[in-house]
This record gives sequence, structure tokens and C-alpha cells, in this order.
Amino acid sequence: MSVLFTPLRIGGLEIKNRFVHAGTYEVMADENGFVTDQLVNRYKNLARGEVALIIPGYMNVHPLGKATPHQVCADSDDKIPGLKRLADTIHENGGKACFQLAHAGRQTKKEYTGHTPMAPSSVGWDPMYMVRPRAMTEEDIHEVIEAYASAAARMVEAGTDAIHLSAGAGYLPSQFLSPYLNQRKDKWGGSDKNRFRFVRETVLAVKKKMPDGMPLVMKLNAVDYTPKEGVMPEMARTYAKWLSEMGVEALEITTGTTIYSNMHMWRGEVPLAEIMRTVPLWQKPVAWLMLRGMVGKFDFEEMWNLKHAKFIKPVLGKTKMFVVGGNRRVEQMEKLIENGDADAISMCRPFIREPFLVKRIKEGKTKKAACISCNKCVGAVVNDMPLRCYTDGLPEKK
Ligand SMILES: Cc1cc2nc3c(=O)[nH]c(=O)nc-3n(C[C@H](O)[C@H](O)[C@H](O)COP(=O)(O)O)c2cc1C
Repeated sequence: MSVLFTPLRIGGLEIKNRFVHAGTYEVMADENGFVTDQLVNRYKNLARGEVALIIPGYMNVHPLGKATPHQVCADSDDKIPGLKRLADTIHENGGKACFQLAHAGRQTKKEYTGHTPMAPSSVGWDPMYMVRPRAMTEEDIHEVIEAYASAAARMVEAGTDAIHLSAGAGYLPSQFLSPYLNQRKDKWGGSDKNRFRFVRETVLAVKKKMPDGMPLVMKLNAVDYTPKEGVMPEMARTYAKWLSEMGVEALEITTGTTIYSNMHMWRGEVPLAEIMRTVPLWQKPVAWLMLRGMVGKFDFEEMWNLKHAKFIKPVLGKTKMFVVGGNRRVEQMEKLIENGDADAISMCRPFIREPFLVKRIKEGKTKKAACISCNKCVGAVVNDMPLRCYTDGLPEKK
């Protein structure tokens, strides 16, 4: 039997094989952040397809942290029944659920939250959202940490088997970790230890709400690719060591941020035409030049985060490593597990195209994911269209 179909213990949780569905924004919640039938059905198929651990799309923890219009929210108690239906469906179909906590920080728009986005510091002019965020007050920081903890408690009540906390991809925790995005002079910035404080306090607050044995999984950036140097591999390794010492059970190492360098997060074709559809007429010339300049610079590379994961793994102690980004060939996935470079294989786009990929691998029907990294799925979600594989192109907007 392939090593990919051996069970894995993560803290007190055992998953049946080594396949993880990486967090994937679905554009399937209603406009108030409630779970819908469409969203539940997506995860029903993935669980039936034998993905062992399912991390649905990022779930917003606080009304000011909403990143996108149709994001699932875990920011109030009335969201619990929908989250429970999602967890129950995953369980009934043989999977384990790992709900992802997220706060956008600066990576959002006033039209989604009603307020100017907030961030550790008021630096930079976001090219995507054309706004300079306001710096968070001490009060804001404590309110957000509390919101993470309350959202985690709701997820636990809903029946999640694990919790995921994104400290990568440019979301608020990752903004605190970055020396470029966090230029605070108080106890929340200025040194690695101070920049880590927000993540430390959030992890501690979240862990308090989790029952013994329930694992906390985190995404962490190895490189931010911001206009000025942000998190870099050495720094990420220090952060990873601290997280491991705090008892974080698993890490996914990623690169890039949504506003400055999202192509580093997924690599492949730049969905130029699809993104241009979202740009207002007056911004089109500048946006076109910017996007055009990106074409050809982000060629797809199999397992492009692996070098960073390998660099970080030696400091991880008992913390498990999920390798994410560009896992496509079964033979390579097996090697990762056999060599001890990874404990699990985390995938996003391959499951958009083939929800039953794991089952087909198990039955010996395929040796390679069919995803071609055209990134039209990214173009679709940017256009607020429900997630699916759009290789043949996006439909006209109604
Ligand atoms: C359409 C889309 C939505 C995504 N949404 C999320 C998300 O909600 N949370 C998250 O942690 N990562 C998100 N990601 C990043 C993926 O989890 C993953 O890190 C990235 O796509 C690289 O893996 P892949 O090559 O298997 O697609 C998203 C990626 C795509 C393409």
C-alpha cells in the first residue's frame, strides 16, 4: 500500500491518510457569512472523495476582518448551526474538519466592512484596494485576539476536529510578523519577539478554547515578497520554532501576500483578462500595465514551497509539516512522505478540478492531478463567482 494511505496522528487526532484539503475561498457563503447548501455540498464531495482532513475556506472572526463578500463568518453565535451542518456533513462522509480562523487586517475594502481597513501600522498604499490602512490601537488588538478566541469556541461547539489559524498569505497575524507591514514602536513591534507577540497571544487565547488533544494547524509565510523586505526564511524559522514550542501541532509553509504578491501564493498563469474585468474603467490602463508586467514571471514549479519547508522542518520538534503549493505527481508526494520532508500533502487547486482525486489515486486510476494552474479559478473568485474549475473560461457577468 502507498505510504500516502497510511494514517497520521496530529496531536490527539488521527486522520486516515496523508491528504489535506488546503484552505480555499469558495464564494459560497451568503452575503451575511452564513453557510449555504452549495458550500455544504462542495465539502460533502471532498469527504466522499476520501480527503482525510478538510480545511474549508478562511472563516472571518470579526466584522472588521471580513476579506471578501461571500466569505463564511464565525463572528457570531448565530453562525454555529451552519458550521455544525458543515462539520456533520464532513463527518458523515468519512472526513475530519479543520475550520480556518482568519482576519483580513488590511487585506479588505471599506465596502465589505464599512470601515477603513486596519493593520499593525499605517504603511504602504495597497495596489489592490487603493487604500492606506489605519494603525490599530491597543484596544483594537485586544478586541481582535478576543474575537479569534470566541470564533474558535464557536468552531469547537460546531464540531470541528481541528482548528487552522492563518498566519500566512498576508492576513492580520502575518502582517504583525512582517518588519515591513508592522513598524510599531510599542510592545507589538520592533523586534522578532515583539512582532510575534500578537500571534503568541492569539494562539494562547485560541488554545484555551480548544479541548485537550484537538490540534491547532497554522499557515506561516517563509517569504512575504512585499515592496520592502518582510518575513524572510531565517525569521520564519525562528517564528516556527516558537510556534512548535507553544505546542502548535502542524504547520503549512507558504509564500506571498494577497495584496502585494498573490502570484507567489499559487504560481502558474496570471489570470489577466479575468482580473481586468474587476478593475474600474479609470484604473484599467495602470492595472493592465501592472498585470502585463507579471506575465511569465511566476511559472508553475512543482512543490515550490518545499525548499522553505525543508529549511524550517529541523526546528519543528513534534510539530507536523504539511507541504502546500504545487503538489501534483503522486510519485513526488510519496517521496516527500518517505523522505520525511512532509507528514501530509496539502492541496487546493487540484481538488477544485477533481474533488475525487484522492479516491482515484487510491484506486490506481491516476498518477497525476489534472490541474493545469491556469488560475482561472482565482480569476473567478476575484469576480465574486462561485468556486469551480473554469479552465474553459469564465461565463459572461450577468
Ligand atoms: C481560489 C483559491 C482560494 C484560496 N483560498 C484560500 C483560503 O481561504 N485560505 C488559505 O489558507 N489559502 C487559500 N488559498 C491558497 C491555497 O490554500 C494554497 O496555498 C495555494 O493555492 C497553493 O496550493 P495548490 O498549488 O495546491 O493550489 C487559495 C487558493 C486559491 C487558488
